[in-house]
Amino acid sequence: MSKILVTGGLGFIGSHTVVELQNEGFDVVIVDNLSNSTEKVLDGIIAITGKKPHFEKFDLRDKPKVEAFFSKHSDIAGVIHFAASKAVGESVENPLLYYENNLGVLVYILQELTKKGEANLIFSSSCTVYGQADTMPITEDAPVKPAESPYGNTKQVGEEIIRDTCNVNPQLAAIALRYFNPIGAHPTVEIGELPIGVPQNLLPYITQTGIGLRNELSVFGDDYPTPDGTCVRDYIHVVDLAKAHVAALKRLVQDNNDSNFEVFNLGTGTGSSVLDVINSFERVSGEKLNYRIAPRRAGDVVQAYADTKKANDVLGWKAQSTLDDAMKSAWDWEKKIRKAKTKLLHNSSQSTFK
Ligand code: UFG
Repeated sequence: MSKILVTGGLGFIGSHTVVELQNEGFDVVIVDNLSNSTEKVLDGIIAITGKKPHFEKFDLRDKPKVEAFFSKHSDIAGVIHFAASKAVGESVENPLLYYENNLGVLVYILQELTKKGEANLIFSSSCTVYGQADTMPITEDAPVKPAESPYGNTKQVGEEIIRDTCNVNPQLAAIALRYFNPIGAHPTVEIGELPIGVPQNLLPYITQTGIGLRNELSVFGDDYPTPDGTCVRDYIHVVDLAKAHVAALKRLVQDNNDSNFEVFNLGTGTGSSVLDVINSFERVSGEKLNYRIAPRRAGDVVQAYADTKKANDVLGWKAQSTLDDAMKSAWDWEKKIRKAKTKLLHNSSQSTFK
């Protein structure tokens, strides 16, 4: 049974990936500093898989701890590196935090992996590297455009750091996965997204508005050159995304890769507008969503959806869930966490849900 390190394994995509890894028989070690998650996520993972992953709580910016960890776990067969900051606005306010968290830590991990000799790395990248691509759907060959934010820049530079390192370390193999828009929750509703504060992303904003936590959703712009005037994205169920990580990891562990640095788009291949997503919410929940059209949001691209052929053919992976499937899981999760929060607020003034 291969031992896999999952950094940020208690976060949104990380926790779903840990579940899929354990379901496939991998032995998982999680490192997470809990900056954007809670230890309770472990209970959800155990409830789904019946297995407790090994968990170490520390901050990967602490280089001596990273070194000590890799000495202790010298049998690690692969690393899936999720631990990173991901708020675009915050990255503009505090770029050095993003460069330290997202790039400094990546360098530490690569230093350890290159010491090991044979090593495998999966990196969380983003469709943000394409900016506004010139043609749709977006293939992996589309040019990388200048980043709109320090966050976006960390994904571009992160990929370059890995590529340069792989160039001179033939025993290191890496795959960068460029995610489109991950949404949803595990169908068991044992794990899901736990956004801190006011959500910036569309899905949690919609479900929080649906449940009454927010008054209304602002639809950022309806005068874009798209069929209904609102921006188009490729929303992918987080469970499908998690399964793609397992497929990519197996490719590396089984030495099936064509080169030691590869890139894949992870999306469904279907573009959905903001109004399509609102309609999906209303269909799935049976609720009317309170929304209004607001000005465009700075930095938004008009449309982005994936050409999934490379991932389908080479990884043998294909997204299975529809937008409505993903929406249903997100809505079920929202109802569950709000109920839990209400109960907690009743019982004490302390809450683990933010
Ligand atoms: N939107 C609204 N109202 C909201 C929130 C979002 O109308 O309250 C719209 C946005 O304008 C956009 C769409 O919903 O058209 C999706 O927005 P998200 O914020 O959910 O997702 P983005 O496509 O903006 O984010 C993606 C990735 C990020 C990445 C970013 C870079 O999820 O990781 O692209 O542009 F940083």
